[in-house]
Amino acid sequence: MHFKPSLRMTRRQFVTTATAGLTVASLRGQDLPAASATQAGPAGTSRVIIDTDPGVDDALALLLAMRSPELKIEGITAVAGNVPLELTLPNALRMVEIAGRADIPVAGGASRPLLRRLVTAAQVHGENGLGGTVFPEPKTRPIAQPAAELIRQIVRKYPREVTLMPIGPLTNIATAISIDPDLVSLVKGIVMMGGSLSGGNITPAAEFNVYVDPEAARIVFQSGIPITMVGLDVTRKTSLTDDHVRALESGQSPVSHAAAKIARNAIDHTRAQGFVVGPNMHDSLAIAAYLDPTILKFKDYYIDVETSGELTAGETLGYSPTAGDDRRLPGQEKQTIKMSIRGSAPTLASTRTSPVLRDQFLPNAKVAIDVDSGRFFDLLIGRLSGKQ
Ligand code: BDR
Ligand code: CA
Repeated sequence: MHFKPSLRMTRRQFVTTATAGLTVASLRGQDLPAASATQAGPAGTSRVIIDTDPGVDDALALLLAMRSPELKIEGITAVAGNVPLELTLPNALRMVEIAGRADIPVAGGASRPLLRRLVTAAQVHGENGLGGTVFPEPKTRPIAQPAAELIRQIVRKYPREVTLMPIGPLTNIATAISIDPDLVSLVKGIVMMGGSLSGGNITPAAEFNVYVDPEAARIVFQSGIPITMVGLDVTRKTSLTDDHVRALESGQSPVSHAAAKIARNAIDHTRAQGFVVGPNMHDSLAIAAYLDPTILKFKDYYIDVETSGELTAGETLGYSPTAGDDRRLPGQEKQTIKMSIRGSAPTLASTRTSPVLRDQFLPNAKVAIDVDSGRFFDLLIGRLSGKQ
């Protein structure tokens, strides 16, 4: 069947189609409304939900968020990713307690990806997910509702006010919009850490969060919710240094002490593995992108996710009318392309006859393409150390 795009398709129709036929329809693609032009606009005091898999950089991102008065954190939802859910959930609770924010509801979510076995990154984040930094068992309990249900309830309570901030695999977000497709028109937007247009970190093709659950990522990118994608293209430029750690160590609060311990262990672990720079503060940059979008530069793309490649599953592909400009001959720079979105050529065995997935370019994401790392670290370290 050749899919005929309709410009009038609503966000809800998208997700219903995408989630109903994940293994078939989502491989063909549906039409998307344009991403909101204001998605990366100035931060107000919007309500947010942070979906996370702590995770060293998740832990620091959570602390940054909880030290940011612009954010009204309505909930924190844990997902399996860097380490199993049995560790990410208590780690999220630990961060909430350290920040003195046990008032924030924390919910446990998916213990594995939608269709795949869980692959973790314990080699990067340590067996406990916090780079070996040990904090006491949390006394705070998670709420009874599962993550997807908490997301659903909060988004429905505050229609068009809530921004979702996933900084782990997208399983919980995809589950929420699959059980309640109306959410896609009720969510204000998504600001996420994930994906890459410049190669991966877990395979040559894929960024870790998308690699772990590419089917979930595809549902989210095809949902029609305005997305800001903060991927490896920019997060690779956020290398934590000894000076940053010393600044954290000089802070006086429980947050800065905890952040300093996590950061010190993360640097030591990274050096022990032979890296001379890093670790990167991937997830904090996504939070910062919301707090102060002027730290980054963005470009509109249509993003899709490879789900079937044996070597490339989890790769995020960015389609843009100006993609490839750099490689054009002099004099061709201003040439405009009527660009359709093409997939692979149909195989002899398939019933598909055309490689065209969408017959015109419509962006579904603002992708961060550059970052002022100095300003980012001023924000991150300033807030964690209590000096800003
Ligand atoms: C992402 O993968 C995880 O290991 C980090 O926490 C971050 O969310 C970077 O690729
Ligand atoms: Ca993460």
